[in-house]
Amino acid sequence: MATRAILRMGDALLLRRAEAVTQFDTHELHSLLADMRDTMLAMDGVGLAAPQIGVNLRVVIFEVSSNPRYPDAETVPQTVLINPVLTPLSDAMEEGWEGCLSIPGMRGLVPRYTHLRYQGYDEHGAEIDRTVTGFHARVVQHECDHLDGFLYPMRIRDLRNFGFNEALFPGETVRDE
Ligand code: NI
Repeated sequence: MATRAILRMGDALLLRRAEAVTQFDTHELHSLLADMRDTMLAMDGVGLAAPQIGVNLRVVIFEVSSNPRYPDAETVPQTVLINPVLTPLSDAMEEGWEGCLSIPGMRGLVPRYTHLRYQGYDEHGAEIDRTVTGFHARVVQHECDHLDGFLYPMRIRDLRNFGFNEALFPGETVRDE
């Protein structure tokens, strides 16, 4: 278990399509997840994708307990999601502010589907199948985008809504996710 360095935007390793996990419940997978958890907690993040620590596998974790940056946001259960498949359940999208541990100190206004089904597996190979909305749906879309080489600035519709935290939200304490 160790905290790993997080790759930053501009690193070509963040732009790859990650590969599917083929074996579950292995020492390597548990070790990867332990490192991802340690790293996410150390950085006070909401989620982390394996490619962000240079591991090109379709593995993400996320968790939202109470977050001072999103006082009105619902909580999101601690989740390990492997080989995810996302299915929007309507065409409806909404804009919301996002940050990313690979783009520290910045935020952008990003459109995401509001109603989403996601399927995949946990680290033991057990199936996950959830239908979610709102902030939970946003977090899943953000993290799974990392598995296809997408960073949130690529989704911003109007780059005037992209900037540094202290300039966008003066006086607020904000976290990267
Ligand atoms: Ni991110």
